Amino acid sequence: MSEIVNSAMHDYWNGDGGQIWVNFKDRIDTSLIHFGQAAINAAALEIDDRVLDVGCGCGDTSIAIADLVGPDGHVHGIDISKQILTQARHRVTTVKLSNVTFECADAQSSQFESNYFDVVFSRYGVMFFDDPVAAFTNIRQALKPGGRMAFICWQPIKNNEWVNLPLEVVEKHIDLPPAADPEEPGGFSFGDPNRVNNILTSAGFASISIQQFHSFFNVGADLDEAMNFLTHIGPASSATKATDVGEITRSRITSQLRTTLVPYETEHGVRLGAAAWIITARNPL
Ligand SMILES: C[S@@+](CC[C@H](N)C(=O)[O-])C[C@H]1O[C@@H](n2cnc3c(N)ncnc32)[C@H](O)[C@@H]1O
Repeated sequence: MSEIVNSAMHDYWNGDGGQIWVNFKDRIDTSLIHFGQAAINAAALEIDDRVLDVGCGCGDTSIAIADLVGPDGHVHGIDISKQILTQARHRVTTVKLSNVTFECADAQSSQFESNYFDVVFSRYGVMFFDDPVAAFTNIRQALKPGGRMAFICWQPIKNNEWVNLPLEVVEKHIDLPPAADPEEPGGFSFGDPNRVNNILTSAGFASISIQQFHSFFNVGADLDEAMNFLTHIGPASSATKATDVGEITRSRITSQLRTTLVPYETEHGVRLGAAAWIITARNPL
């Protein structure tokens, strides 16, 4: 294990945050598949590429990429969470791929082999660094000269109905805690594209491109699953779970949230709007 420099996020992803991610991994993988595919397309992978999957989670994208780069290519997934990586390792044994490895490491401090990877990839795994410039500098040094990076991250909460709609319901019943500093490490900390551009430029990347990706987040196959998901994941669930929120208020929030979701239920699941950035960049030659 590399030196832990992101201790708050290390504790979160090795504690409750990691456990929730593992518990909901099937729903999350179903919901994120088209976001991951868009980022994979942007990575323009080639046969035999060596790919670093940063914050690889339960291994869904590492496995998809391993298939694309072929048996002589390689995917190295790194993640800071032991419990999440246990799932990834289990998955790889069930699909019997020999060109994927996983490592429990902090991407900001891990001593990657220099000039080794053709591609750095991430699906929502790079927004959690205390010092993003240091982290991306470290990651860039693992890329060959001219190597590519492609990742997907969320636009701000206000552009993401799947988070904003439940928050609006919660807000009718309780005072929400003051909004966190949008640059604090967390799922929405890369919402400002100018900030991301500055981070990547300072980390030495070139040819930076930031493209919109608008889609939907399928929060559940039906209303029951959607309610289970939204009451366990995201800022609205955290606010509702706060200890000073009484049971009566909590049950009013859940009941109103369920009613609010009814118009979003389709035969393909409960779909709320979602907006991401797809970011590509290169390690200069
Ligand atoms: C939102 S999840 C995304 C997981 C996966 N990429 C996916 O799409 O399912 C973020 C992941 O990044 C990992 N992570 C957070 N900070 C990290 C760091 N400093 N180094 C490596 N992984 C990190 C977390 O443990 C978690 O698995």
